[in-house]
Amino acid sequence: MVDEGTSRRDFLFLGAVGFGSVAVSSCGNTAANTSQEQNTNVVKNNEEDKEPAAKEVTAVEDLMREHGILRRCLLVYSETGLRLRKNAADISPEPLQRTAKLFRAFGEEYHEKKLEEAYLFPRLKEMAASSEAAKYTDVLVAQHVRGREITEYILSITKGPKLGADAVRFADVLMGFVRMYQHHAAREDTIIFPAWKDAVTSDEYDELNDKFEEIEQEQFGEDGFADAAKQMNEIEASMSLSDIAQFTAPSIK
Ligand SMILES: [Fe+2]
Ligand SMILES: [Fe+2]
Repeated sequence: MVDEGTSRRDFLFLGAVGFGSVAVSSCGNTAANTSQEQNTNVVKNNEEDKEPAAKEVTAVEDLMREHGILRRCLLVYSETGLRLRKNAADISPEPLQRTAKLFRAFGEEYHEKKLEEAYLFPRLKEMAASSEAAKYTDVLVAQHVRGREITEYILSITKGPKLGADAVRFADVLMGFVRMYQHHAAREDTIIFPAWKDAVTSDEYDELNDKFEEIEQEQFGEDGFADAAKQMNEIEASMSLSDIAQFTAPSIK
């Protein structure tokens, strides 16, 4: 019998075990093996039914994977720079317009303004002026500002069916932006983010993990990272950049 308080899920499980026990007594070892397999399957199915526990994305992990999206935008720009120099007529403005819009919304309005400039840089500026990370903040902000000017330029010249700028000049601007932001993100990943994590207490860091998640929800109303990654996949597909095997360096042998 099953206790009144036993749930339907438990009842089904106990029923299966009971059936297995009868099978063991009447049919010997083969049946015993079969019943054990059945029981194992029931337990397995019960485990598979459960939703896996969501794993928390911590604040620095969040910032670094955002850099991953921005680096994929930079790859679009650097590939465009190469193609502009080979055959400018091959360049379609549409994927560049989408990339610049994504960089603006995800990189500039969210990652830079809502996270780095609001939480990281002010905290680092409180540190001793002699600290390596504190010395970086002014130039990093200046690079954010320069990046926004360049994004504005990319948006303006890619809004029509044809590029609204001289191909060589445009390629130079794109490559200048890529060069700046590659250095920028690399220093943030290796100097700024670790220094900021060291500067806050463990309790503050836990709260900031939640705060960053909340800001992402407010900004995008959904999983901003997943949506940005989906947009990158589409942009890369439209420029034949999806297959990374094409970027394996040639053998030197
Ligand atoms: Fe930054
Ligand atoms: Fe950054």
